[in-house]
Amino acid sequence: MDTPVISDIVVRPSTEIDVPAMVAIYAHHVRNGLGTFDPEPLHDDDIKRRRKNMMKRRLPHLVAERSGLIVGYAYAVPFRKRPAYRHAVKHSIYVHPDHLRSGVGRLLLPALIEACTAEGFRQMIGYVDAENQPSQQLHEAFGFHQAGLLQGVGYKFGRWTDTLLMQRALGEGGATPPATDPQDLPDREPPARS
Ligand SMILES: CC(C)(COP(=O)(O)OP(=O)(O)OC[C@H]1O[C@@H](n2cnc3c(N)ncnc32)[C@H](O)[C@@H]1OP(=O)(O)O)[C@@H](O)C(=O)NCCC(=O)NCCS
Repeated sequence: MDTPVISDIVVRPSTEIDVPAMVAIYAHHVRNGLGTFDPEPLHDDDIKRRRKNMMKRRLPHLVAERSGLIVGYAYAVPFRKRPAYRHAVKHSIYVHPDHLRSGVGRLLLPALIEACTAEGFRQMIGYVDAENQPSQQLHEAFGFHQAGLLQGVGYKFGRWTDTLLMQRALGEGGATPPATDPQDLPDREPPARS
């Protein structure tokens, strides 16, 4: 991927050295916000393992760096495990608490969209808490639409929470069949109708 440099922020693929900084950013959002529903902060090994799994599947895992400091990260995972969903991804994005609203998300999200598109994925889905205005607005600014609302599916800070599904097509989306890849399973005949 191209490495965009705008002002003093560089977006690039993450490395293992970035893991502690990502763990610290994530811990803040676990404790303080509705951007994640993990009950406890993660450990370095959790993110290292997840990152390695994503690399194996050619799923993008990016960081934003400002003056040598990791100020945000974003990555995609398979939307669902069953093979028929393999052209769709689900993503996450987290910005350092001291660098919110300073343009980091505005650089990271399009970079992730571009990287997922380049890998041939066709749909991108974000699960956004219905009260998470910053995330909703960021996603809408980059072409995501609200595809559904799941009511009362989360419970955090002592109350039920609603989750918005935000979706956008990548590349040709559903307009053309996916390019074949070595992992493709042979398509089966659809079941005969009686
Ligand atoms: C959501 C998040 C990634 C946005 O990143 P950010 O770097 O702060 O956003 P930016 O400064 O790049 O702003 C980009 C756009 O997002 C929206 N936005 C960001 N912060 C906002 C806020 N506090 N209120 C309303 N809109 C906001 C705006 O549309 C903004 O564009 P604008 O500045 O031209 O108005 C960041 O708030 C975050 O990490 N939140 C906690 C974790 C989280 O919720 N992750 C998403 C899980 S789905």
